[in-house]
Amino acid sequence: MKICVIIPTYNEEENIKILTPLLFEKFKLFKDFSFYLVFVDGNSSDETVKSIKLLQKTFSPIHLIEEGKKSGLGGAYIKGYQYAMENLQADYVVEMDADLQHNPADFPKLIEKIKNNYDLIIGSRYVKGGSVPAEWNHRRKLISYFGSLFARVVLRMTKIKDFTSGFRVIKVKGILDQIDFSKLKSKGFAYKMDILVRIFDLKGKICEVPITFGLRDRGTSKMEEKNFQDSLKVILEFAVERNKNFIKFIVVGFGGLFIDLLVSNIANIYTRSSVASTIAGSLAMIFTFTLNNLWSFNDRTKIQLKSLIPTFIFYAASSYVPIILRGYVITYIEKLYGETFLMFNLGMLIGITFGIVWNFTVYSKIIWKRK
Ligand code: GDD
Ligand code: MN
Repeated sequence: MKICVIIPTYNEEENIKILTPLLFEKFKLFKDFSFYLVFVDGNSSDETVKSIKLLQKTFSPIHLIEEGKKSGLGGAYIKGYQYAMENLQADYVVEMDADLQHNPADFPKLIEKIKNNYDLIIGSRYVKGGSVPAEWNHRRKLISYFGSLFARVVLRMTKIKDFTSGFRVIKVKGILDQIDFSKLKSKGFAYKMDILVRIFDLKGKICEVPITFGLRDRGTSKMEEKNFQDSLKVILEFAVERNKNFIKFIVVGFGGLFIDLLVSNIANIYTRSSVASTIAGSLAMIFTFTLNNLWSFNDRTKIQLKSLIPTFIFYAASSYVPIILRGYVITYIEKLYGETFLMFNLGMLIGITFGIVWNFTVYSKIIWKRK
């Protein structure tokens, strides 16, 4: 079993001199595994490269990739991954920072889990036993925690507690080798989330191991302000991709509402209002059915031509359920709290919310269920 520890460096000359011997001590604990240390240097302006070359004389194997030009944390890791897979035929890669914020003492705990055949082992600050530095101020703790929470909720990945951890082990076969690095949405710090979401979508077996996230030993953090925007961009892009059906369904719903209003107003001029609203409602339903079929759920099961009419009847009947229910809800609320403008609209709001949930569930789980 080949395990490749990839450490990106940017001006870390002092830290790597301390980290390297500590890591090689830990490597010795696992007799069945062979370890490789790969530094990816982003063209440091200090003596980092010189330090690595010196370390290579005492410790083996240490590989060095010199980037020539700093390409961001994600950029550095892509080079590291490719090198580990192609040149070293690695079975697992480990991601770790150079600045000792990731404690080598936690390293064996992560490696240990490889025996349980995990695809991703996350060194986690937010599971029981894990921690962030006590020295961090409240603001930093809150940003870190709620940033993570936001991503977990929006992407429906609440099971994962630490979304941005930089200390983790990834299996190559079937996982890392399935990821197209040219498609990554970020070359900066947010690539961490990017890779995590992709592993999650590949149905990788994931676990979290508590770590003690320390303070940077020496040198300065390279976390930049724009990382925040970068992370938000990655999260939102994934959110849109994952909720495409729902977003289109809402758009079509608004289109239907527009047709409903337009047609009923026109028809109202020529005929009784109850007839007008029935015509308008029916037309709107045909409109939404057609668009949902051709567009909102076009990546799902296609409805056969011969079952188009029965399916439409089912669609219409099911779509009436929340409309009828809404009437009851409004009557009930008004009976309890009085027939006021506020109560009427409260009932409408509850009814519409239920309608969205109901319709989307029926459409996506029954009518246009996944292939
Ligand atoms: N080659 C290269 N190129 N290395 C880089 C670059 C780059 O552009 N930017 C940073 N590094 C190296 C640093 O030298 C360090 O070893 C590691 O990447 C992490 O950089 P830090 O500057 O120490 O990051 P941080 O401490 O702010 O962030 C860490 O914690 C975050 C969670 O709080 C990282 O592990 C993040 O990935 C993590 O999200
Ligand atoms: Mn750091």
